[in-house]
Amino acid sequence: MTELKNDRFLRALMRQPVDRTPVWMMRQAGRYLPEYRATRAKAGDFLSLCKNTPLACEVTLQPLERYPLDAAILFSDILTIPDALGLGLYFETGEGPKFRKVIRSEADVDALPKMNAESDLDYVMNAVSTIRRELNGRVPLIGFSGSPWTLATYMIEGGSSKTFSEAKKLMYGQPEVMHRLLDHLADSVIDYLNGQIKAGAQAVQIFDTWGGVLSSWAYDEFSLRYMKKIVDGLIRENEGRRVPVIVFTKNGGQWLESIADCGADAVGLDWTTDIGNARARVGDKVALQGNMDPAMLYAPKARIRQEVADILKRYGSGSGHIFNLGHGITPDVDPEHAGAFIEAVVELSGQYHQ
Ligand code: CP3
Repeated sequence: MTELKNDRFLRALMRQPVDRTPVWMMRQAGRYLPEYRATRAKAGDFLSLCKNTPLACEVTLQPLERYPLDAAILFSDILTIPDALGLGLYFETGEGPKFRKVIRSEADVDALPKMNAESDLDYVMNAVSTIRRELNGRVPLIGFSGSPWTLATYMIEGGSSKTFSEAKKLMYGQPEVMHRLLDHLADSVIDYLNGQIKAGAQAVQIFDTWGGVLSSWAYDEFSLRYMKKIVDGLIRENEGRRVPVIVFTKNGGQWLESIADCGADAVGLDWTTDIGNARARVGDKVALQGNMDPAMLYAPKARIRQEVADILKRYGSGSGHIFNLGHGITPDVDPEHAGAFIEAVVELSGQYHQ
């Protein structure tokens, strides 16, 4: 394997010394970039883009051509697992993801097939190994998956939801059936992430986008418990190096201590939590990733730079911070403003790492 030329992202995840704070953006390969929209048009649609190895590789690398980012993230989607489980994922323009089949009953849960990531999601594994080869050691490659709870909400609702009524009906009405579904998904995620790690992913992130809609006890029982199971089942060392795990629960700030106890190396924060307080709460247990409000990218460049300076100051000196947005970058952001954000981290963070 080629030597990794820039490892500050992996080092910060392990809270090892770095020369400056590493930075990447959730959804960094996406619609805010005109070159992404052009490649997607070539592929036809989003899902075809995910399944086209050379083009998926191309869009993964696009943001790295523009900005001095410290990590690449596999171009794919969290909903590839439900698709591989036979639910028939499709995207209608402007409407987000949809499934042809939904999960509503005990019989639906029991009929789910066992997934084999390496054969059922071979296009993802091919993308990982191709991107890794094309990166040629420039920066590390992040693999990812959705959390079981977040995947379950899409599978039960049949797409995005505001209220999560159907998912909550199953959770409260037939908790044992919900647990069976989540356990099946946890096994699928373990297989999927281990496949990505074997194919070359050097760190992995679990996106628990909807954990924050649960009450505290339900978060522990229906989301965090299964992320713990996943973390316990992952390959933690590959190619002679630790493969760090990042857990990101959107709106999970109030549960930070218990998330930090789940065995992950790092916790992702959205912008509603003060990163200085968060650091005091987790101590040396985990690294922290985040957490500028992505909407700050609509502000003038000088204001973006000030916000970056403030977040760096609140985190303070020393390693263990990976700069990121608190959630994905939105499609209507000016790419130059994203550039100002990254440049500010590169220029202003060195002073915190003497
Ligand atoms: O960060 C990256 O650059 C990697 C790519 C990535 C995508 N989706 C590409 C994508 C990642 C990490 C995801 C994860 C994902 N997908 C999540 C969890 C992350 C989060 O934001 O909390 C979720 C909930 C999904 C499900 C999903 N996929 C939705 C709700 C949508 C529609 C969103 C929208 O804005 O329309 C998608 C589609 C999707 N996934 C796009 C991209 C670039 C846009 C599709 C397009 O090109 O039209």
